[in-house]
Amino acid sequence: MHTVDIIAKKRDGMILSEKELTFLINAYTAGEIPDYQMAAWLMAVYQKGMTDEETAILTLAMAKSGDMIDLTSIPGIKVDKHSTGGVADTTTLVLAPLVAATGVPVAKMSGRGLGFTGGTIDKLESIPGLNATLTKEEFISNLLKHNLAITGQTADIAPADGKIYALRDVTATIESIPLIASSIMSKKIAAGADKILLDVKVGNGAFMKKMADALKLAETMVRIGELVGRQTIAAITNMDEPLGEAVGNSLEVREAIGILSGRGSHSLKDVCVTLGSYMLVLAGAACSPAVGKKLLRELLDSGKGLNKFREFIKVQGGNDEIVANPLLLPQAGIKLTLVSKHKGFINQINAAQVGFTAMRLGAGREYKEQQIDLAAGIIMHCRVGDYVEIDQPLATIYTNDGNKLENAISMLRQSIVLGSDSVPIPPLIYGIVD
Ligand code: URA
Ligand code: CA
Repeated sequence: MHTVDIIAKKRDGMILSEKELTFLINAYTAGEIPDYQMAAWLMAVYQKGMTDEETAILTLAMAKSGDMIDLTSIPGIKVDKHSTGGVADTTTLVLAPLVAATGVPVAKMSGRGLGFTGGTIDKLESIPGLNATLTKEEFISNLLKHNLAITGQTADIAPADGKIYALRDVTATIESIPLIASSIMSKKIAAGADKILLDVKVGNGAFMKKMADALKLAETMVRIGELVGRQTIAAITNMDEPLGEAVGNSLEVREAIGILSGRGSHSLKDVCVTLGSYMLVLAGAACSPAVGKKLLRELLDSGKGLNKFREFIKVQGGNDEIVANPLLLPQAGIKLTLVSKHKGFINQINAAQVGFTAMRLGAGREYKEQQIDLAAGIIMHCRVGDYVEIDQPLATIYTNDGNKLENAISMLRQSIVLGSDSVPIPPLIYGIVD
């Protein structure tokens, strides 16, 4: 088989066979195909697209390029949850213990934040002592004993995706739906879950800015799941404004504790309960989303979700006293509350801009390997649709570096747009693809 023929075929808009796609991925992972040929092929895919069948074959080949985690020793249906990334998206910290408290095993491989979006592993590492890099044996043993394990993704999970993603990043081929779909799904499939719940974010603080693109991505991933025998459901959710109130690592852990204690942001809680209800449906633990929602609300009210979070922290080596006393989490030396200069209705809160502000404050990385400040970030005090008076608090900035304040204040002010007229409150969840 010749790589140049595979490139030409895709360049001419033809459909590639399983043999051709598998050859391409295996040979590229093994270093037998040079980057320039892979780059040319990626651009051909970007231009001509791929069928769902081709995308599913590509996904499986990428999943099989490294370790395929075997979770068959754990009884029950294992459901994974994945968000395409957003701002104040604290859902995993709430959902993982909540769903695990129902008895459904939650096996989660999570990532770190990059750019303006946060990552679960960074958030968890703000808990003193917590180990978020489990060995395969620890991962499985924790799941068996506690129904819950969260770990960072190892280099052995879908290495083909790691190599291809790096190449896409520098060849203007990231924004291709079959390439994004296969990238996400290959890692989920290799991580071993039987079923997958996807949270596809849409809006200015998300990868997908337009509804039509988010819908296409969701449909493609659900179809891949179907074709490879891992049932997948996707929720399309709003990322035009930050989801929760907290943006930043220890601040988000604190917010998750609040939600699990029955307090805190309604928007975050509602999205968690909805996503969780579909996880329960996938796992066969609820006969409908409505039944699942009721069960999850009971677990929030009874504190069982919170108890599971405490248990999880302890098992992974963290200080579980942070649950009763969140002041034991990293605290910022400087706190500054921004107040409104005018009265009016909040018309817009630009999620990407809020995310960038938090990143600049030290909560996120501008480049890989950058040290982050686990205490830094923002707490939002308003949402789109709220009416605010002059001097009413809009947001509080947390940082350990006073030099960063001025820029953060100006960025945050720009991200919150007031108007004299009220605006409709946008929906949190646009729809479900299954
Ligand atoms: N997230 C991924 O994991 N891969 C992509 O290609 C895009 C977003
Ligand atoms: Ca279907």
